[in-house]
Amino acid sequence: MTASYEPVPDDAFAWLGHDPIPAAAYTDPAHYALECEAVFKRAWVLAGHECEFPEAGSFVVRDFAFARASIIIVRGKDGVLRAFHNVCTHRGTRLVDAAAGKGQTFSCPYHMWTFGTDGRLLSAPDFERFYIDKADCSLKPVHVESCGGLVFVNFARAPKQGLAEFLGPFAEQLGTTALARATTFAEYFYEVDANWKLYMDNFQENYHLRFIHPNTGAAAIGQDNPLGYPTGYAFFGPHRQQTLWKNPDMAMPPPLQARAMGLAARHAAVEDAGTPRGKVDMKLFPNLFVIGQSSYVFTHCVQPLSHDRTRGWIRMYWIGEDTSASQCFAREYVLGMIRDVHAEDRGVIQRGQIGLQSGALEHIHFQTHEVLCRHLNVQLADWIADYRAGG
Ligand code: FES
Ligand SMILES: [Fe+2]
Repeated sequence: MTASYEPVPDDAFAWLGHDPIPAAAYTDPAHYALECEAVFKRAWVLAGHECEFPEAGSFVVRDFAFARASIIIVRGKDGVLRAFHNVCTHRGTRLVDAAAGKGQTFSCPYHMWTFGTDGRLLSAPDFERFYIDKADCSLKPVHVESCGGLVFVNFARAPKQGLAEFLGPFAEQLGTTALARATTFAEYFYEVDANWKLYMDNFQENYHLRFIHPNTGAAAIGQDNPLGYPTGYAFFGPHRQQTLWKNPDMAMPPPLQARAMGLAARHAAVEDAGTPRGKVDMKLFPNLFVIGQSSYVFTHCVQPLSHDRTRGWIRMYWIGEDTSASQCFAREYVLGMIRDVHAEDRGVIQRGQIGLQSGALEHIHFQTHEVLCRHLNVQLADWIADYRAGG
């Protein structure tokens, strides 16, 4: 963040073009289906955090609507994290119902085929009557890798890049944040009736701050910078980031809030996280924001459910458990602050979908300070073109 505001030149991003964006990309079910195939099923997407797998046998089950898939992610006896389709290889029954747990085997409720944490079929009643080898009945694997504590999966049969290569310079940066050492988290979800890109666009521009967040966004709005624009934008392959501006004349926060943020900063251990004052602002392709401020670090994953419905998955990460009532209060307060901001955004995101769904517009428009939204759209078009070309 910088104090005195120096605007980004309007011609800085000519390389991304200035064309309007087709509105149908936000409303057309066929286009959404194409995005699922070309993008979501070929990119590394967030699935969890290493702290969810403290021991051999620790597992979580995660659903991915874009792939119509449920995935088991489990730490094996050898310490390796593996991911499998949550599908029994006998006749396809969903294998595990629990959202998370710990165990050394997974048994299908239908005919009791039982699998190990390495995916192998261990036992099956009366298996001699089948016409197949046990070795050919393992759970179907999904690629899983982690970076900086975050666990990602990739649905491609053979991903074009490993996770670190996909993340580029952000891979190293993730390793330096408090996320890499987080041991616990608080999370919440919310759903909106809107295309996932409308949701992404909202969280990639400050143009709306003054109007939608006059109070919660006050830190980024000032006399020099009345619309609260960031002071810089940067692009790394399909990913991007911005440098936020902070109003030097901002009024002090109310005492309760200041106290909570101070406490949270100490206990979240963000300040010694290796990055300057813990500041992180990553917009990772295709659907993940990683944001660290001086008193919190959180992930915000935008999960498409259909062409016009999206779920937000927000997690605030911490190092260590609460050891006092004030620490517990500080964490809840900071999480509540983030919820407040998102609650302010939800209405306008849905209004966008209502308007676009009418078919009244052929195009929408992005200005210079909506360049992160434009970059996402350009990247999506590139991935779709590559997919169509058989890449
Ligand atoms: S479908 Fe799973 S054991 Fe039969
Ligand atoms: Fe907002």
